[in-house]
Amino acid sequence: MRAYQLDRFALDHLHLADMPDPVPGPGEVAVDMRALSLNYRDLLVIRGQYNPNLRLPATPISDGAGVVSAVGPDVRGLRAGDAVMTHFVAGWIDGPFREQYVATTLGLPAAGVAAERVVLPAQALLPLPAGFDFQQAATLPIAALTAWSALVTEGNLQPGQVVLTLGTGGVSVFALQLAKAMNATVIITSSSDEKLARARELGADHTINYRTRPDWHREVLRLTGGRGADITVENGGAGTLSQSLRATRAGGVVAMLGALTGLSADVNLAPVLMKRLRICGIMVDSRAAFERLCAFLAQHPLEPVIDRVFPFEQLPDALRWMETGRHVGKIVVAF
Ligand SMILES: NC(=O)c1ccc[n+]([C@@H]2O[C@H](COP(=O)([O-])OP(=O)(O)OC[C@H]3O[C@@H](n4cnc5c(N)ncnc54)[C@H](OP(=O)(O)O)[C@@H]3O)[C@@H](O)[C@H]2O)c1
Repeated sequence: MRAYQLDRFALDHLHLADMPDPVPGPGEVAVDMRALSLNYRDLLVIRGQYNPNLRLPATPISDGAGVVSAVGPDVRGLRAGDAVMTHFVAGWIDGPFREQYVATTLGLPAAGVAAERVVLPAQALLPLPAGFDFQQAATLPIAALTAWSALVTEGNLQPGQVVLTLGTGGVSVFALQLAKAMNATVIITSSSDEKLARARELGADHTINYRTRPDWHREVLRLTGGRGADITVENGGAGTLSQSLRATRAGGVVAMLGALTGLSADVNLAPVLMKRLRICGIMVDSRAAFERLCAFLAQHPLEPVIDRVFPFEQLPDALRWMETGRHVGKIVVAF
């Protein structure tokens, strides 16, 4: 079988290699992959920016879906032929997050899925939600569950509340779609009017171009009658946090999940104190939360926004497309 190998950190060092078929051990399952989806994290991992101490050579990419081809001893509930998708923080089943779970995240440091056949712990696999094909299911594990984590697990979003979400990438578009499915009002920002038109087609109530409105938090305040958003999905990090704090209402939630503009900044913390904001760090979510998301999707059908599909042989091109930032929603790789 063929698998991508990263020999050294850099996209140019990602290449296809012939590898022996992996065999599942106790508690493990072999999956023939049918689709992958890309996350910004994959780029950071490949460039060595996520963790320069990761052991190489290794197979990257976190999210995918496929068909069980074999199960090892002591595996219950899964058998050959089952359609499954990955659960990113494989060791986090339920309950509070623990630091040691970071070592179990798929796509390094734990196994990556950019291979024709992968072996994963059984607990890292869930059935596909009803009505989802492999490509659609492959978009869910990080992006949709992170949006769910921000809106539901941490944000306790209620109908009629206002969600502010930054940019039109994978997490943000799922935040838009999930929030609309929960009857919230959505304000979304983007660098591009064209992308904002797409966001309106997807149900966004208000759109702001942060290039032409660099003081975008003022527009959020205007749109909310001076109050601010109930929940802000903070994808941007260092460069956007100050405005996100100002754009969020007193007692509101700022779900800190991204670092598109970096991790270190000089931030005025006054709004945190004066508005008693809750800043929540997000690390995707547990398997139990993923099951709750799948149950929600069964009741509220939602079509993942797939920007482009690349063949497996063109995974590096798919990652380069993500680097350009020209996509809306998710980029998928199909086998
Ligand atoms: N903590 C977690 O659990 C978790 C989980 C998933 C993702 N993340 C992080 O969340 C971020 C988004 O991930 P993703 O996979 O959704 O990325 P993505 O699909 O690559 O989305 C990137 C998009 O973000 C927008 N963007 C870039 N700079 C921005 C800025 N200054 N202000 C507002 N938007 C900006 C751009 O959209 P426009 O052109 O429309 O502006 C860009 O296309 C990344 O930092 C990722 O590492 C964290």
